Amino acid sequence: MKPLSNLISIEDLDAEQVVGILDTAEQLLPIADRRRNSVPTLRGKVVCNLFLEDSTRTRISFDLAAKRMSAEVINFSGKGSSVSKGESFKDTALTLDAMGVDCVVVRSGSSGAPLQVSRYLEVPILNAGDGWHQHPTQALLDVFTMRRHLGDLAGRHVVVCGDVLHSRVARSEVQALRLLGARVTLVAPPTLLPPAPESWGAEVSGDLDAVLPDADVVYLLRVQRERMHRAFFPSSREYARFWGLDVDRLARLPDHAIVMHPGPMNRGVEITADVADSDRSVIIEQVTNGIAIRMACLYLLLSGDTEGAEVTP
Ligand code: NCD
Repeated sequence: MKPLSNLISIEDLDAEQVVGILDTAEQLLPIADRRRNSVPTLRGKVVCNLFLEDSTRTRISFDLAAKRMSAEVINFSGKGSSVSKGESFKDTALTLDAMGVDCVVVRSGSSGAPLQVSRYLEVPILNAGDGWHQHPTQALLDVFTMRRHLGDLAGRHVVVCGDVLHSRVARSEVQALRLLGARVTLVAPPTLLPPAPESWGAEVSGDLDAVLPDADVVYLLRVQRERMHRAFFPSSREYARFWGLDVDRLARLPDHAIVMHPGPMNRGVEITADVADSDRSVIIEQVTNGIAIRMACLYLLLSGDTEGAEVTP
């Protein structure tokens, strides 16, 4: 596969690179799953987690991924650092460079921040979520999880339901699924659809009940209240009634279909607690798979290996 220099957007990848990342993650999964042991693969490398927006699972996941491969990790957050004293983004990035980090993982509320950092630094930049724009490792861990359950995703039908408008996950997800040949239907209230959703290469429906019988995956998106500055729907109850997944809707799915959510969930809004905890839900598996995917991305960016061949768990 073509070597990776940064991972900023799924748009920068081709299908072979996506498959290469998934195959590498498959090899690394036994280590991701293992609680105490690590491998020496990235010994001597320094990974900096530059997290300028709140995050729990993504930051911990990157942290664990780097540590399972014996890299050193520096955690840098906006709060409690010189960023809160008004230091510019550029100066923060140049300071990290001067300290000799080998890779920077960037999470930011501003779309484009990781790309900006990549212009200041020579080392690989990994996007851990930027504004409404992209969340490539989330999309990769999701297609990895789908592939583990369904095999080849070509021709599979994935229903992505919820707050598509504000969702960087949805943007990255649809691009990754299209690269792998899957069919995607976006389901959302009209106010939470982006402009020209057809340009995403997805179908669009306003009727969740109608699309469920034909779905292999239902992917629920979190209602992103922190990004809503006006009312996009009348109430959480009404949202749940039309766009939420409950047990009655779950029964409409084919037996093999799986339920996914990137987390954190609003239980009772986009998904009921009994569906989230049901045996059709793979939400907890997504979290474990996330470590393997982040290990694979760090490995491919930092080792220069383009085959994933040297990974020996
Ligand atoms: C996603 C994010 O931050 O974009 N969550 C995550 O990475 N754990 C999805 C979300 O916040 O809804």
